[in-house]
Amino acid sequence: MSAMIWRLLLIIFIQISITSSQNSDRVALQALRDSWQDTLLNWNDDTDLCDWVGVTCTNFRVTSLILSSMGLSGGLPGDIGQFTELQILDLSYNKDMRGSLTPAIGNLRKLTNLILVGCNFNGPIPDSIGNLERLRYLSLNSNGFTGSIPPSLGNLKNLYWLDLSANKLTGSLPASEGTQPGLDMLTHAKHFHFGDNQLSGDIPSGLFNSNMSLIHLLFENNRLTGKIPTTLALVHPLEVVRLDRNMLSGDVPSNINSLTNVTEMYLSLNRFTGPVPNLTGMNRLNYLDLSNNGFDQSNIPSWFSTLQSLTTLKMKFTNLVGELPASFFSIPQLQNVDLSNNRINGSLDISSNPSTQLELVDLQTNLITDFTQRNQYDIGLILVGNPICTESGVTYKFCSLPTNTSGRSYSTQSNNCVPPSCGPNLVSSPNCQCAYPFTGLFSFKAPSFSSVTNSTIYDSLQKLLMTFFKNASLPVDSVSLRNPTRNMEDYLVLRLEVFPYGELSFNRTGIIGVSFALSNQTFKPKSDFNTYTFIAENYNNFFPGSTPRGANKKLSNTGIIIGSAIGGCVFVILLVLAGMYALRQKGRAKQIVQQSQPFALWDATSGSGGVPQLKGARSFTFEDLSKCTGNFSDITKIGAGGYGMVYKGTLPNGQLIAIKRAQHGSTQGGLEFKTEIELLSRVHHKNVVGLIGFCFDKGEQMLVYEYIVNGTLKDSLSGRSGIRLDWMRRLKIALGAARGLQYLHDLADPPIIHRDVKTNNILLDQRLVAKVADFGLSKPLSDANRTHVTTQVKGTMGYMDPEYYMTQQLTEKSDVYSFGVVMLELITARNPIEKGKYIVREVKQAMNRNKELYNLYQLLDPTIGLNSQLKGLERFVDLSLKCVEESGNQRPAMSEVVKELESIMAMVGLNPGSESSSSTSASYEGTRNSDYNHPYSNDSLFAYSGGFLPPKLVPK
Ligand SMILES: *[C@@H]1O[C@H](CO)[C@@H](O)[C@H](O)[C@H]1NC(C)=O
Ligand SMILES: *[C@@H]1O[C@H](CO)[C@@H](O)[C@H](O)[C@H]1NC(C)=O
Ligand SMILES: *[C@@H]1O[C@H](CO)[C@@H](O)[C@H](O)[C@H]1NC(C)=O
Ligand SMILES: *[C@@H]1O[C@H](CO)[C@@H](O)[C@H](O)[C@H]1NC(C)=O
Repeated sequence: MSAMIWRLLLIIFIQISITSSQNSDRVALQALRDSWQDTLLNWNDDTDLCDWVGVTCTNFRVTSLILSSMGLSGGLPGDIGQFTELQILDLSYNKDMRGSLTPAIGNLRKLTNLILVGCNFNGPIPDSIGNLERLRYLSLNSNGFTGSIPPSLGNLKNLYWLDLSANKLTGSLPASEGTQPGLDMLTHAKHFHFGDNQLSGDIPSGLFNSNMSLIHLLFENNRLTGKIPTTLALVHPLEVVRLDRNMLSGDVPSNINSLTNVTEMYLSLNRFTGPVPNLTGMNRLNYLDLSNNGFDQSNIPSWFSTLQSLTTLKMKFTNLVGELPASFFSIPQLQNVDLSNNRINGSLDISSNPSTQLELVDLQTNLITDFTQRNQYDIGLILVGNPICTESGVTYKFCSLPTNTSGRSYSTQSNNCVPPSCGPNLVSSPNCQCAYPFTGLFSFKAPSFSSVTNSTIYDSLQKLLMTFFKNASLPVDSVSLRNPTRNMEDYLVLRLEVFPYGELSFNRTGIIGVSFALSNQTFKPKSDFNTYTFIAENYNNFFPGSTPRGANKKLSNTGIIIGSAIGGCVFVILLVLAGMYALRQKGRAKQIVQQSQPFALWDATSGSGGVPQLKGARSFTFEDLSKCTGNFSDITKIGAGGYGMVYKGTLPNGQLIAIKRAQHGSTQGGLEFKTEIELLSRVHHKNVVGLIGFCFDKGEQMLVYEYIVNGTLKDSLSGRSGIRLDWMRRLKIALGAARGLQYLHDLADPPIIHRDVKTNNILLDQRLVAKVADFGLSKPLSDANRTHVTTQVKGTMGYMDPEYYMTQQLTEKSDVYSFGVVMLELITARNPIEKGKYIVREVKQAMNRNKELYNLYQLLDPTIGLNSQLKGLERFVDLSLKCVEESGNQRPAMSEVVKELESIMAMVGLNPGSESSSSTSASYEGTRNSDYNHPYSNDSLFAYSGGFLPPKLVPK
């Protein structure tokens, strides 16, 4: 028994020590949730994040995020880069997800599957995807991506699937060249799906080589020019080649028929010239389309009758002359022949043992004079525009165009039952149950057949799907397919309906299961269908109904009740076991239980209100923090102020922390303290220093922050930290800090005005990423006071907005003013007020827009690298002066500041996505002063408060 307790406790202990990296996952998930304004997922802060819908953990870290078809809207914030253990990310079919794909995606080094099908993302595909060396499956199709295909994709050595189709990509196909990578390096890739873009330029001959494993090459519907490179024939495994709907020209290379494994080939709608290609030997060809090209006049090629696997032959407008051999129609699987608009002459003979599957023979506008057919098969034959119709005077059936065949369209039949009439939006399943099906469209891009009426084919697909869902234990009752049609691109489009098992509708987990099977191509149809794209329609009827966050969670759902009852039991058992152990081990277990129940110490009786509502912050006991700091020993002291001391500590998991400990007499009321930590715990952004936790125990009030190793921006500008900041680094720092402030203004909930933006409050991490710190003076804005709040004026001289100073009306624009001063300080490294001179006035006076660098040489900090090119500096100065406009109305919003800084960075040639220094760690100039002041030590932080200044919530 005791061994078992030991083991259990060990498990609990391990779980606790892992909490911290899990914490960063939690924080990032919360940030995602916030940016998605999500009402469907119901991610609930009271539950373990590993139980959140769509989240899977391994060893307490998030390893997969599958949120396809969840009705999410908004962008994908840079926080996604925090999931360093993530392997699968699928956000497909969230049509309201928009914005550009954050370059932070390149941090997910463990990612194997990145799937963003059918969203509304735009902007360029970030280069940084090329960092994801473990990536095997990359689907970005059906979005609005622009720009060219990044050559860095060539670094994805393990890639098996690459789908970029149906975007707005431009530019040419990147082949490797010198040190630049290219797609030809993807030797494990089996799928290049680039169709439906605006790709242009010649197909580089370096794009193909004999080491490649490609089976599907889909380049259709682009603007590619030039010849097909002869190197294409080196890719022997190829099975599907779609080069149709481009502007390719010249001869089709004569070695193309060495691709003997090709089953579907589309070269139609190009500008090929020269002889009709000799396809002798391509004996596996099922589907061949050479239509609409400028080939030389040619007799019916002899290979026509030798390709015994053909189901479909399309060669309209290809300059064919001569008679069709009778043997041609006896190809056993032949279904569809379109040789219209040529000069085929003589007599048409379909009499010698024609294919039983023959559905349509279109020979309109040729020179056929006679027709022989022994057996009266029901073939759709079109001879309109041939002499046989125009000259004989007899009206044959085949001399008029067939009326539409939509009446024969396929639809999965009911399973021996009578479909009931269902309510609105409900659909009767093949098992005659009314339900809300999950629906969407399949597009098969190169099926081996052309029939849209042969139900055998679709019935078998339907059965395959059903078997798949059953084997995958997904809650699917039945599957129905309907309305197969060929669309403009010659894709076979088919509507799918998947019906829930035992319920009216799917729950979220069920939808994720079904939809991931299709977005990830886990479901593989049999080879006849080849590859597909599936685009889901919105699912609006989740079971048990969507409850917005914060709404009453007591749903009458037995599953939930039973689930939480079991969970509760397990917890009780653990508590009992822990209690027993505690009796023997003198309180050690108590501590563990307290840690796993972070609010247990919250003292509800002392007028401090209920347990704080925290997002990701944890509660520490006094002993915890005492242990981290060697009983708050002097060596760990890194700063002091009117409010008390700052200590540096190390958590048991190795994480460095900074602890602000209020001294006796400086503590605030419990309610204020609670309000403050609640506010701080809601703030999660890469460019904002994060609160890790707090301590409200034994009469102490402490705040625990992440420790930011490189100190304040002020330290670096003044040379105290030993870190040299060149122009590029300063630009990145400005952008990072601006993003942090923008987050506080626009995305934090409630929005926060910092009120004390200055270089002392901008910290630099080990990669010199800027983080906005200290909200001691911050103001949350309630909705009622969205425009401004009237307050007692607080802030730091030199950075303070004069308008705010005079009117006492605080708006976000006051932070913008201070940020403008920070920007000037960034380039000059001068204090805002130095020897009675105000930096804003100094810059304005020295400035001359007609001179190089606006004539600011004298004022610029020499360490910025004066002898290098300070590209973009003028725009930077312009921006900072806009920020310090006298009237708040004329200052830009932080979001506009961010945009302009991004644009300056792009102009300078830096990737605006990465604000971290290009080298992995900061480099130091000279010896680093080991005891320079730590950011948290700064007195002025609390100059106006003498303690933790509680951010006052604005009364409603
Ligand atoms: C061609 O296909 C066959 C059967 O599918 C396969 O065994 C063979 O390896 C393929 N050839 C190449 C060069 O991949
Ligand atoms: C087509 O190629 C085959 C085999 O490579 C050859 O035997 C045949 O003569 C060629 N036909 C034409 C018309 O060139
Ligand atoms: C069909 O056309 C070819 C080439 O133009 C010609 O040589 C042949 O005589 C024609 N045959 C008939 C039956 O008109
Ligand atoms: C329908 O397709 C199946 C499988 O491809 C084939 O065996 C059957 O002959 C076809 N039926 C018709 C009427 O063409």
